Amino acid sequence: MQTHEIRRRFLDHYVRAGHTEVPSASLILNDPNLLFVNAGMVQFVPYFLGQQTPPYTRATSVQKCVRTLDIDNVGITTRHNTFFQMAGNFSFGDYFKREAIEFAWKLLTNSVDDGGYGFDADRLWATAYLDDDEAITLWQEVAGLPIDRIQRRGMADNYWSMGIPGPCGPCSEIYYDRGPQYGREGGPEADEDRYLEIWNLVFMQNERGLGTSKDNYEILGPLPKKNIDTGMGVERVAFLLQGVDNVYETDLVRPVITKAEELTGRRYGAVHSDDIRFRVIADHARTAAMLIADGVNPGNDGRGYVLRRLLRRIVRSAKLLGADKPTMGELMVVVRDEMSESYPELTTDFQRIENVAVGEESAFLKTLTSGTKLFTDAVETVKATKSTVIPGSEAFTLHDTYGFPIDLTLEMASEAGLSVDEEGFRSLMAEQKQRAKQDAQARKHAHADLTIYKEFVDRGPTEFTGFDELASQANVLALIRNGVRVPTATKGEDVEVILDRSPLYAESGGQIADRGVITANGLRARVNDVQKIAKTLWVHKVTVEEGQLTEGDVVDAQVDPQWRHGATQGHSGTHMVHAALRQVLGPNAVQAGSLNKPGYLRFDFNWQGALSDAQKADIESVTNDAVGADFPVHTFITDLPKAKKMGALALFGENYGDEVRVVEIGGPFSMELCGGTHVQHSSQIGPVTLLGESAIGSGKRRVEAFVGLDSYKYLAKERALLAGVAASLKVPSEDVPARVEQLVERLKVAEKELERTKAQAVLSNVGGFADRAHRVGDVLLVAEAAPAGIAGNDLRTLATEVRGRLGATPAVVVLLSDADGKVPFVVAVNKPAQEIGIKAGELVASFGPAISGRGGGKADMAQGSGSDASGIPSALDAVRKRVAELAG
Ligand code: SER
Repeated sequence: MQTHEIRRRFLDHYVRAGHTEVPSASLILNDPNLLFVNAGMVQFVPYFLGQQTPPYTRATSVQKCVRTLDIDNVGITTRHNTFFQMAGNFSFGDYFKREAIEFAWKLLTNSVDDGGYGFDADRLWATAYLDDDEAITLWQEVAGLPIDRIQRRGMADNYWSMGIPGPCGPCSEIYYDRGPQYGREGGPEADEDRYLEIWNLVFMQNERGLGTSKDNYEILGPLPKKNIDTGMGVERVAFLLQGVDNVYETDLVRPVITKAEELTGRRYGAVHSDDIRFRVIADHARTAAMLIADGVNPGNDGRGYVLRRLLRRIVRSAKLLGADKPTMGELMVVVRDEMSESYPELTTDFQRIENVAVGEESAFLKTLTSGTKLFTDAVETVKATKSTVIPGSEAFTLHDTYGFPIDLTLEMASEAGLSVDEEGFRSLMAEQKQRAKQDAQARKHAHADLTIYKEFVDRGPTEFTGFDELASQANVLALIRNGVRVPTATKGEDVEVILDRSPLYAESGGQIADRGVITANGLRARVNDVQKIAKTLWVHKVTVEEGQLTEGDVVDAQVDPQWRHGATQGHSGTHMVHAALRQVLGPNAVQAGSLNKPGYLRFDFNWQGALSDAQKADIESVTNDAVGADFPVHTFITDLPKAKKMGALALFGENYGDEVRVVEIGGPFSMELCGGTHVQHSSQIGPVTLLGESAIGSGKRRVEAFVGLDSYKYLAKERALLAGVAASLKVPSEDVPARVEQLVERLKVAEKELERTKAQAVLSNVGGFADRAHRVGDVLLVAEAAPAGIAGNDLRTLATEVRGRLGATPAVVVLLSDADGKVPFVVAVNKPAQEIGIKAGELVASFGPAISGRGGGKADMAQGSGSDASGIPSALDAVRKRVAELAG
């Protein structure tokens, strides 16, 4: 039975039993705790927790899921997919265990003619949570399962939660016995490869808190109702019904392997290690396509990082299989052809999906060879120094310069029998981490308990009046402090205010919230922030400055007009910069995020490489020309398909409702889906000054700009700066560039002169060192600390000169120096000394450790650097000893 058919039968079975068919949610739901949707129940969590009232009590879905925790198992076991489809049925306080078991059993065992999957009932097993006698009885009663094919298992296996606080409950799993050739007798308890789990029925009845593992978390108490959440692995069922050996050989995945065989020239099924790489390619190609379709772009943290790692693993696997050309484009075509029947977005959005995947491949191919070489060299150095740990700095360079995700480096290291100093790597990555942390902090309400707002969310959306007026009368529906309803708030107190209507813009779409005041008789409360809950409820965060605010009050909510004016300039300015970017760079400059507030905007977009000065100048001038053209701004409501047809730009990964608002500035110039506040004519934006452009992770860039009066202030400051420079150079402003150029030229001449003087000073030491050479066996040895501060090349010149002075007797020169916290060193060995077996490169090992140093070279010359200057005396002793040994 084909996979698409398995999905269809599942949904039909449950629709017949009164369930509403609900489409799969995006792989990315707005939950900062969850990287990707990893179970069918995720989109229903607010219903289980009682935070929202479900529109149905029975639902069924086939949910796209991504789990990457077991990524190392992909291709190795028979059953690990990073992308899979979970078919499920859900009861929200409706039926419970009995029906859940009955529905599942029927679908599995009914004959194919009867709409079922036709599994042999005698090969099915079930498990239940330790004390769940009820489930055990029901399996016997409803399914007729003999007691010896029902096993009790502990919390780690049979108590399910999302791994984070939320709904949880005991579960009961259904397993299929693949037969004795696949493993030991004894049921799921004994062997999970022979007994394959195909379905998990969760009796969702409790709420969990924080914890440390699958079987160690706090149960906070019962949910408002008893619910059902089940999940059947569509790929696993396909693998059993299609009589193949593993999930990678099922009908939708195997064609990708076939394509990879064609592209690499190797054959699947010939060599085990090759097979694993084929499966990795097939699995990851599909996951990557699905993630990109849902708006993920390759990046250096969070979701983007996972996608990057998947794509780069494909590229490396293909290379190891012998591919000498890019393969990504053709792999994506196969994924599209296989998966589109269930996921038409793969066809409609194919161009973008392919661009992103191929872009990542070509970026990585550029550095894969040189990065692999760097890695191989690092491995050699590590092995030569008898260490087993690749330094964190190498991993960082591989990451930073060559685009090797750290996990890829870890994998490669473990293939070479080594480990990586991950701690060193992490500390070098601290800056990137800091950025991720700031992003997370910026997401307000990330971990808050939202139950308190439910009543108001259910009541219907807050009426936003702020497109038409800046002050509105409103009713205070509730006051909330620290998650608790309070009747009043008095002077000096901070409180959240829920109004039935409000002119204040709540932060969304990159525009930060309006500032303003709420007033009434004797009352004045300053609005510091406005956030949306469940996208529809406005929550005003205020500080009461005068009087008292009470639930039920009728108040005036007012936007600070000056703030709003600035905010509209910022937001319209963002649209103008976006349009200009696309005009200058083309449609591949896809928006990845934005933020705007009065006077300032920033815009993030997907793009490889830095923008040239000419591109930046063009973007700025196209933007300002469009501002100057005084385009009228139109906003209107329409439906999503119509808006897309008109060419309105939408943000990938954003879930839009049926009705969308379009903001159009200057006809075709700029048209975007947007709920923000805007100017009425483009000239009201005022001048836009690009501040610069920077990388925010590989493949992603950011432009920032000032708008309106802030633009003027910025330029005025620059002018003052220039005037200051002109004054210190004592030339008119327009002569500054020529004057600076002249000064730079003079500086260069002076630096050269200084170099020469320094070199002479260094060489004046040569005679002294040569005179102090002493005989060790047959060898003349100079092993000394050079004057502090002599580094790198100077030290080398000095050592070479000293060696030259020592004539035709075997001679060794070792010089170390203490320079800016480093300990550079050079070893020079002349020909006669080499002939008696002394090699410069090998001498390093004798004294390197004393100064925590590393380095190497050839027989005649070696150099390197250490970090511990206090070890210089013992390093010198060590090398003297070693030379003595070698000199007989
Ligand atoms: N939520 C459960 C699981 O993911 C059943 O759907 O296994």
